[in-house]
Amino acid sequence: MTKIRIAIQKSGRLNEDSLKILKEAGISIDNGKDQLKATARNFPLEVFYLRNGDIPQYLRDGVVDIAIIGENVLIEKGQGITIVERLNFSKCKVSLAVPKSVEYNSIKDFEGKRIATSYPNTVKQYFDSKGVSAELHIINGSVEIAPNIGLADGICDIVSSGSTLFKNGLKEVEVMLTSEAVLAVSPQINKDRKSLLTKLQFRIQSVLRARK
Ligand code: PRP
Ligand code: MG
Repeated sequence: MTKIRIAIQKSGRLNEDSLKILKEAGISIDNGKDQLKATARNFPLEVFYLRNGDIPQYLRDGVVDIAIIGENVLIEKGQGITIVERLNFSKCKVSLAVPKSVEYNSIKDFEGKRIATSYPNTVKQYFDSKGVSAELHIINGSVEIAPNIGLADGICDIVSSGSTLFKNGLKEVEVMLTSEAVLAVSPQINKDRKSLLTKLQFRIQSVLRARK
C-alpha cells in the first residue's frame, strides 16, 4: 500500500508541536525516539525525522512528499516548494540585532558591517532591497554569540521570546520577516500520495478550526 512520507524536525522547537498536530489529527505514530523513521498505525503515513535545513532539499528531490517546517527555512532555501497550509504554531521573527550599546538609526547603519547569520539568502535579499551592502558570515548555530567574540558587528537570526538576544546583550533593530510552521509539499509528489495528502490536510484543517 502506498504511504505518504512526511518530514518532521528531528529535534528542536518544531518537533513536539508537529507531532502534536498529527496526534490531534488522529494519527498515532510508534515513537522510537532514536529512530529516524516511524510508521503511523492508523494512517498510510511514514514519518522521517530530519534536520530542519535538510528538509527543503529532500522535498525537492521527492525523497519525502510533505513536511512540517518553519516558513523561514523555505524562504531561505525552499525554491520550488509549495506551502499548502499555515499551521499557526512556532511563530517567530527573523530579525537583525546589534549590541545593546550600539546607537542604531537606520538600516544604512549596516553598510560595510559584518553580519553573522544562518540565513544568508534572506539577509542578502533584504539588504539588496534596501541598497545596503554588508559582509555575511555564515554560522549554523549559536549565532548570537558572534558579536561578543568579535566575529561580527551584528547578527540576523530567529527571534521568538527574545531571551537569546537579551542574554547575549543584543537588541532587535529590524524585523525582516515573520514566520510560522507550515505544511509544505514536494513538487514531485505523485497522484496516489496527493490524494493521501488531501485526506491528511482535511484532518489538519479540522484540528486548526477546533483550536480557534
Ligand atoms: C533559536 C534561534 C535563536 C533562538 C530564538 O536557537 O536560532 O537563537 O532560538 O529564540 P528566543 O528568542 O526564544 O530566545 P536554538 O536555541 O534553537 O539553537 P541554535 O541556534 O544553536 O540552533
Ligand atoms: Mg540560536
